[in-house]
Amino acid sequence: MEYRKVGRSGLFLSSLSLGSWVTFKNQLGVRKATELMAHAYDKGVTFFDNAEAYGDGETEAIMGEALKNLKWIRDTYCVSSKVYWGGDKPTQKGLSRKHLVDACNNALKRLQVEYLDIYYCHRPDPDTPIIETVSTMHHLITQGKILYWGTSEWPADLVMKARSVAKQYNYTPPIVEQPQYNMFNRNKVEHEYRYLYKESGIGLTTWSPLESGILTGKYCDGVPSESRLGLEKFKWLQFLIEKEEGKTKLEKTKKLMALAQEVGLPLNQMSIAWCLKNKNVSTVLLGASNIEQLDSNLESVDKVDLLTDEVMIKIEEILQNKPEADPDWKAH
Ligand SMILES: NC(=O)c1ccc[n+]([C@@H]2O[C@H](COP(=O)([O-])OP(=O)(O)OC[C@H]3O[C@@H](n4cnc5c(N)ncnc54)[C@H](OP(=O)(O)O)[C@@H]3O)[C@@H](O)[C@H]2O)c1
Repeated sequence: MEYRKVGRSGLFLSSLSLGSWVTFKNQLGVRKATELMAHAYDKGVTFFDNAEAYGDGETEAIMGEALKNLKWIRDTYCVSSKVYWGGDKPTQKGLSRKHLVDACNNALKRLQVEYLDIYYCHRPDPDTPIIETVSTMHHLITQGKILYWGTSEWPADLVMKARSVAKQYNYTPPIVEQPQYNMFNRNKVEHEYRYLYKESGIGLTTWSPLESGILTGKYCDGVPSESRLGLEKFKWLQFLIEKEEGKTKLEKTKKLMALAQEVGLPLNQMSIAWCLKNKNVSTVLLGASNIEQLDSNLESVDKVDLLTDEVMIKIEEILQNKPEADPDWKAH
């Protein structure tokens, strides 16, 4: 395993980490989730991602039981949660002080840990003043309930605003963003956030490296019943392979599969290694519904060197979606 620093913070994470969205609760109960996490940890994974929204809190509860079973020493791993979607009542959502504090306490209880290593604002909340969110995150840190905080899918200028408000009032700034990043979704990481890395020292914990499994090639000939897009509750994700855009994606996936074969690795590993090639990425959050998938995905860390300049050019030729640099973009 390789370990990377999260931006300019002092925190190191394994460059491949394990998330729980969809898989825990819907596909894996406590026993299997425990086995999956044990396997990841044995292979050097140190970061496990969660959110209050996943499985309406049950995903955190499963991870909490798994952590209890595993009895790992607390300073050998990191665990995160995210706050935003906690329930239907007005007090149960968003980034108000009320919800941030309640959601954090609930996550700690469900995960059965004394502190969260990273606590993310799962989306921006236009109804809460930024100072309220920033100051509450700072207070959660001084109370020892969280160690670092970050954002997920925030616009670049709002991340900068949060950092400048933190600086102005001497509060702890966010250190990390959690955006989607894969061969089909590049704009935020490669374009919109480009000033956040050097200027603000923001690190990235990126999600859905396989675009929910599409970048394994498993959907090229239809939707297998034993797959994420075949799950009754997640059929809505089929939008990813529908209409003109989805069909083009599958065509490109077929070409990428042929290229991966030529290079000598499976497409899932080529897709994950491609994310790791980007040095602004601190860790790639993996999803896996069984140990075989996880095992294969974790091997990607040893395959990055196979993606030579020549191979990267061939990938660009297939993707045709490199974000163009915008010379007029200004940091606020
Ligand atoms: N911040 C956010 O808004 C946000 C949003 C989404 C995700 N996330 C985080 O990112 C993590 C990873 O996202 P993701 O689960 O969408 O990642 P992903 O890698 O795009 O998709 C993972 C899914 O693809 C399939 N798969 C994975 N490896 C495979 C392999 N080798 N062969 C065949 N199929 C394979 C599995 O589904 P099946 O076996 O069921 O087909 C697996 O659950 C999440 O768990 C969560 O922690 C964050």
